Amino acid sequence: MKPVTVSTLREMKRRGEKIACLTAYDYSFASLLDRAGVDMVMVGDSLGMVMQGHDTTLPVSVADMVYHSRCVARGVDRALIITDMPFMSYQESPQHACASAGRLMQKGGAQVVKLEGGEPMAASVRFLVERGIPVCAHLGLTPQSVHQLGGYRVQGREANAAERIRRDAKVMQDAGASLLVLEAVPSELAKTITLDLEIPTIGIGAGPDCDGQVLVLHDMLGLYPRPSPKFSKNFMQGAASPEAAVQAYIAAVKSGAFPGPEHGFHTT
Ligand code: KIV
Repeated sequence: MKPVTVSTLREMKRRGEKIACLTAYDYSFASLLDRAGVDMVMVGDSLGMVMQGHDTTLPVSVADMVYHSRCVARGVDRALIITDMPFMSYQESPQHACASAGRLMQKGGAQVVKLEGGEPMAASVRFLVERGIPVCAHLGLTPQSVHQLGGYRVQGREANAAERIRRDAKVMQDAGASLLVLEAVPSELAKTITLDLEIPTIGIGAGPDCDGQVLVLHDMLGLYPRPSPKFSKNFMQGAASPEAAVQAYIAAVKSGAFPGPEHGFHTT
């Protein structure tokens, strides 16, 4: 069983094979996802909400991410492990970003680190990549900016906002990012960006045309007690076990059946 690398994902994009990703925060679920055949396991800072019960991801620390990433890494043999850089662990300077990313990789077993933001983060992305740290960028709805965005809202509906996200996507690729997560953006915009870029795009609420999809595990298993976003789907409905639900998700992503039109957003 060959481990998935960033090169594998790029090759999948080239072949038109969809990439299936889910979040995980512990050993048992990470092992279940890996056995089921996800291509990437994302240790998201969404753990602040689904594991810790906060209203936002802002209280999550590097120590929290190291702890959960290490638990996940023990359960994964094949999938690529992407770990979120939490709020204020990278925004201050490229050097600060590098110190945080180093901890996530050395102590947490992260293989790629993910950070939120566009052009203002380009210098940090370049700094990390030049030091051998693969980076996944994250644009659109960036939950660490929830207070600045005025809530968990769809981004890039107006032409100028869409153009900015499109430009930021190119800037992130040019800075050396290996992957790009697009969250809660119109499907048309995600399709354009996916065609623009050589690196794979991973959508969450970004329509069917991204190179891959990611969902928060607790949303797709119906475990989160608060309302889940419109772009999510509960795969436990009709499934005999969590393993069957995860297999159904992977099959739906690979065949293009998920996300459906009801999970997407459109330009105004
Ligand atoms: O924190 C998270 O889980 C994420 C993804 C779902 C994209 O950033």
